[in-house]
Amino acid sequence: MRLAKLGADPARRPRTYDSGHYPAAMVIAIDGPAGAGKSSVARAVAGALGFVYLDSGAMYRCVALAAIERQADLDDDAAMGEVARSLAIRLDGGRVELDGSDVSAAIRRPQVSESASRVSVHPHVREAMVALQRRMIATGSFVAEGRDIGTVVSPESPLKVFLTASPQERARRRAAQTGEEEAVVLAAQRERDERDECREHSALRAAPDAVEIDTTGMALEVVVERVVELAGERGLT
Ligand code: DC
Repeated sequence: MRLAKLGADPARRPRTYDSGHYPAAMVIAIDGPAGAGKSSVARAVAGALGFVYLDSGAMYRCVALAAIERQADLDDDAAMGEVARSLAIRLDGGRVELDGSDVSAAIRRPQVSESASRVSVHPHVREAMVALQRRMIATGSFVAEGRDIGTVVSPESPLKVFLTASPQERARRRAAQTGEEEAVVLAAQRERDERDECREHSALRAAPDAVEIDTTGMALEVVVERVVELAGERGLT
């Protein structure tokens, strides 16, 4: 059977999404640290293949934004889990809606980046977001980007890509996007990298069967071409 058919076969769909029995969904997993180019690559690959783009980082950012607005304790797992479970998050291409409001710009603020890194360490937050992500990806063909897509959210993905780039290049890219100073971004990035890599639950790491691509000095189109080529080799196109 061609892999492309798996996600469409209702017999392979889970009865409950949280049971741990979910299908080998048509998910291309793109993981890696901030600034490695995941968003641009995932969006372009999704466009090229006609898949839906899922930005899991935007969901953790929504939890952080809601927690800030509710003045909740960002370091309290139970409180953050409650916030995470209470949210209505809608992702529509690049647009992010939280409880009916467009928060696409608000979730990119530096304060939210910092807070998202803090709230995403909590097991209850991760549990809620992973369940939501699994429900989303069970509905079709996705290119999903994040930190734990290939390791936790969708370990059956037929194609897992782990994107990296040097810390300097990652900071340069982020600074160009946000208009912040590169040195400031680099310092904050170092702290977030450490938290992402060292947290107890779903720490950032490549899945054993992921294809690693170091995008330092690589043009976006070249990376996209490589991922589309890998998808073709695996019968996903
Ligand atoms: O990719 P991003 O910078 O938008 O992610 C925001 C934060 O969420 C970042 O600190 C890492 C965290 N995150 C995560 O823990 N797991 C994911 N699958 C995606 C993001």
